[in-house]
Amino acid sequence: MRIYLTTPIYYVNATPHIGHAYTTIVGDILARHHRQRGHETFFLTGTDEHGTNIPRIAREAGLDVQEFVDRNAAAFREMTQRINASNDFFIRTTDPRHEAAVQEFVQRIYDAGDIYEGLYEGLYCPRCEAFYTEAELVDGRCPVHGILPEHVEEKNWFFRLSAYQERLLELYDSNPELVLPGFRYNEARSFIQQGLDDISVSRASESWGVRVPWDPSQTVYVWVDALINYWSALAFARDGQDLRDDLWPAVRHLLAKDILKFHCVIWPALLLAAGLDVPKQLFVHGYLLFDERKMSKSEGNVIDPLELIDVYGADPVRFYVVREVQFGQDGNVSVDGVHERYERELGNDLGNLLSRTTAMIARYRDGRLAEAPRAGDGNGLGTLGDDVAALLDGFDVTGALERIWKEVRSLNALVEERKPWALAKDESRAPDLDRTLYELADGLRAVAIALSSYLPETAPRILEALQQPDDLGWEGVGPGRTKAADGIEAAEPLFPRVDSPTAAA
Ligand code: MSP
Repeated sequence: MRIYLTTPIYYVNATPHIGHAYTTIVGDILARHHRQRGHETFFLTGTDEHGTNIPRIAREAGLDVQEFVDRNAAAFREMTQRINASNDFFIRTTDPRHEAAVQEFVQRIYDAGDIYEGLYEGLYCPRCEAFYTEAELVDGRCPVHGILPEHVEEKNWFFRLSAYQERLLELYDSNPELVLPGFRYNEARSFIQQGLDDISVSRASESWGVRVPWDPSQTVYVWVDALINYWSALAFARDGQDLRDDLWPAVRHLLAKDILKFHCVIWPALLLAAGLDVPKQLFVHGYLLFDERKMSKSEGNVIDPLELIDVYGADPVRFYVVREVQFGQDGNVSVDGVHERYERELGNDLGNLLSRTTAMIARYRDGRLAEAPRAGDGNGLGTLGDDVAALLDGFDVTGALERIWKEVRSLNALVEERKPWALAKDESRAPDLDRTLYELADGLRAVAIALSSYLPETAPRILEALQQPDDLGWEGVGPGRTKAADGIEAAEPLFPRVDSPTAAA
């Protein structure tokens, strides 16, 4: 199987917050998981650097536009690295190779006869980089940013989106899982069914962008330019190779609900017009909220992912965002919440389980773990691999993590139930003690492999503490694969205590 995963490319008008990190984290969990299953995987993220808003903000900051985008793109790249994303490429839309691909793409649509010249008159929100009708405004203001839209009147090139209504409906009807979750599929489909207007795909007044190839007085509308990144990146991500033939049909896009229309309606229509395959699947997720409001720079309510990583490390931040909020829904996040889950779930449930297990092997068996296969599938470990894989095939990163955590909880329950410290006092119970220690080690090893896409730094530490090979292949999630080992010592805490942010304040 092949899988090409993408995140939206982020605007470089500001530095990243945890909402941006969120989609990249989920994309990374999925990418790492598919690699574990031996699937040919390509994971793309990057930055969206054109548009009318960016030169304006750069000027306000007193910077040259290129210098400004370079600086903020570097901040996004740093965020990507600090959260340990294993992206195969980082695309920037100011890359001349992308710009050339945008020209090639729009030229195809123009040649196919689906682009025509017209007069645009309407309202534009530069922060959304989107046009609005009067009816869509709230008290005359942009419904997302609350700012007054600009009145734009200019000659533009238009894309015949209206001509694609039937083909889009056919596409949706023949692919009931094209857009997930189901309620987003319905939202996109009913939007199409209501009828589509042609859209302006160029700007006359903005020079910071890709030139329209047949009319260099205009630049390509930033959203068209940005969407094409998913297709262009594969052409030049690897020197001398065009990965599109292999990977393009397997594309899965991740995005938040604010950009559903661009991805689920306009993008497939542009691809059809260009004679290209449409995406295999799109997953539309919700917002991380802070104090019940969408986190955004303009609201001043952002959580800086790098500050959290400085205190807790990347794994706990990755864990927190997918554990706290059901992927697909909106949900609140907070710094105190990160701390609480760090202590209770990572520190106690997982960290202590490893500390206790290794300490008992060290103390009662001199560091030797004997192979003592158990009867049957004690704790549901037998279905863990299939269950997690099925949930992740449906993009349910939260459900899959809960399924793994069920295993963690049942291993903790096993310790309480079997009381290895009591078994250790009774020589006649030696086989029971061996079996218990093996079950704990085996469960922890399987859990580590299942968790490694979520906690890529922690999982190898668990395997190492148990003296197990560092192979993360998905078959390893099955029970009874733990090898006998020597020299196991009481493990250092996986998640050492950290001062609570409120206590420190
Ligand atoms: N540049 C466009 C996307 C072009 S894709 C061809 C854009 N950029 S953005 O910087 O505004 O980032 C949008 C994406 O960041 C969202 O779709 C989502 O993936 C992520 N998020 C930004 N803030 C978020 C939250 N508060 N919560 C969840 N995701 C958030 O739109």
